[in-house]
Amino acid sequence: MTASVVGCPFSGGQPRLGVDKGPIHLVEAGLLDQLVGLDWKVNFDGHHQFEEITAANDPPIGKLKNPRFVSKVCESVAKVVEGHAKKGELPLTLGGDHSLAMGTISGTLAAHPDACVIWIDAHADINTAETTDSGNIHGMPVSFLMGLNSQTIPEFSWVNPALKPDRIVYIGLRDVDQGEKRILKETGIKAFSMHEVDKYGIGKVVEMALDHVNPKRDRPIHLSFDVDALDPSVAPSTGTPVRGGLTFREGHYICEAIWETGCLVALDLMEVNPSLEDADSVQQTVAVGCSLVRSALGETLL
Ligand code: ARG
Ligand code: MN
Ligand code: MN
Ligand code: MN
Repeated sequence: MTASVVGCPFSGGQPRLGVDKGPIHLVEAGLLDQLVGLDWKVNFDGHHQFEEITAANDPPIGKLKNPRFVSKVCESVAKVVEGHAKKGELPLTLGGDHSLAMGTISGTLAAHPDACVIWIDAHADINTAETTDSGNIHGMPVSFLMGLNSQTIPEFSWVNPALKPDRIVYIGLRDVDQGEKRILKETGIKAFSMHEVDKYGIGKVVEMALDHVNPKRDRPIHLSFDVDALDPSVAPSTGTPVRGGLTFREGHYICEAIWETGCLVALDLMEVNPSLEDADSVQQTVAVGCSLVRSALGETLL
């Protein structure tokens, strides 16, 4: 099997510099060799270069910050992911901030229209242009993928709102905005917060999540993993840490269990920010990012 690594040094979906260095650190830590060690053929033609659209020619649209830059980058990422996926390769996108998932999931759905999404995160990232407080688009990709914005924003018209509410499931949520809670209720999207992880245990939660989104285990799976789903004691170097998160093992269990389905077709690892916290924290966060990817791509404990 071929994994096509899409390195996305991009931070325009949120204000904290450094998250664009995430993919560079992950690759420098040896992630690609580690995948070769798991018998993957690894295809990597360098980190993607994005034409810089500066703040001066990218004023906010409503509350949305850096809207043209985010849109352009995600559109190009969507094409790259679609291209790899249509060749039967598994796109592994290294972020970068989570706005990139607007691109990666668009690419996956273009290649695999019946795919479902498993979104691992402290946050729901489903704010609309109306509900967002921050204006940071990394808190909104799901709303674009689902077409939840009441007004169409011409700059984002390339996004095909093809993601249906019963084709996405969340695990790990614990910092969901009021407007997002309302959207989750109205759309009926299934979400397993940390409350459910505590109540049922991670094994049962993953099983229930899969039963919901992929009952016959015949749909392709796109796994979008925001490293801030993990507890900050496990993954400290990330822009919007929230305490009370997944343990090291819970995070890895999710990846292992999804790999075991045999349905994984695309993987995102997002929001590693090597500019935040001390050197040990950065090393720890990069290492845990690499090991999550290995688990999702077939590394077993025995
Ligand atoms: N809900 C907040 C917002 O919309 C935080 C989003 C954090 N997202 C992330 N991908 N880390 O701004
Ligand atoms: Mn490529
Ligand atoms: Mn998050
Ligand atoms: Mn996220």
